[in-house]
Amino acid sequence: MEPRVHIAQDEPALFQACAERLVSVAAESIARHGGFHWAVAGGATPQGLYRLLASPSFRDRVDWSLVHIWFGDERCVPPEDAQSNFRMVREALLDAVSVPPAQVHRVQGELPPEAAASDYADALRRHLPEADKVPQFDLVLLGSGPDGHIASLFPGTDALRKRRPAAAVYVPKLESWRISITLPLINTACHVILLLSGAKKADLVRHVFRHSADTNPLPVQMIRPSGELEWFLDDEAARHIT
Ligand code: 6PG
Repeated sequence: MEPRVHIAQDEPALFQACAERLVSVAAESIARHGGFHWAVAGGATPQGLYRLLASPSFRDRVDWSLVHIWFGDERCVPPEDAQSNFRMVREALLDAVSVPPAQVHRVQGELPPEAAASDYADALRRHLPEADKVPQFDLVLLGSGPDGHIASLFPGTDALRKRRPAAAVYVPKLESWRISITLPLINTACHVILLLSGAKKADLVRHVFRHSADTNPLPVQMIRPSGELEWFLDDEAARHIT
């Protein structure tokens, strides 16, 4: 299935378009199997999207009681650490909507990395439906760094070859451990949304859209879901492809 590309004039319009799409994917998932398993993205970009979903204009358009929040990746820090993706998502979204606590599947970043990865992989296998024996998300929301990493799957790391649902990843350039879902989960998802904004991502977007058949693909180019892939870009991130 060819990826669909949505280009918004600025970041507020980007979050509005992505929020509308997320609401429709959630409704479709709930209608299909009675729930919505969503792997959220970390980092800075999606915070505006989460705050919009938590606002009065969107908050009541999702049946949060049927949503399961998962994390595409997490830093190996305690949940209240400033670096924690859980803390960021809690503050930007979860504190404002009523996802049942048992349906917020936090990565236990405070544990030793291998233990955290193993616990998270067990939870993914326990709660998610499967497709070809791989836990299947309804939606994986991802950002990408200028180097083309997704979640915590960085170029040239062996995490890109892991088959288990979640892996402990040491990131040399960050000198830190992370827990990440792996490529099989991303590519088994019903929907994948890539959300990129800002001029810093423009070169990466040009590389991806100009070199679709790279012999040495970046992680973001390894996303080939059996489901639907959609790019949500603002004008600045898309300036080399429009
Ligand atoms: C993280 C994210 C990471 C992020 C990219 C883009 O934990 O940081 O999962 O993969 O999506 O690094 O980050 P920005 O949105 O901050 O550019």
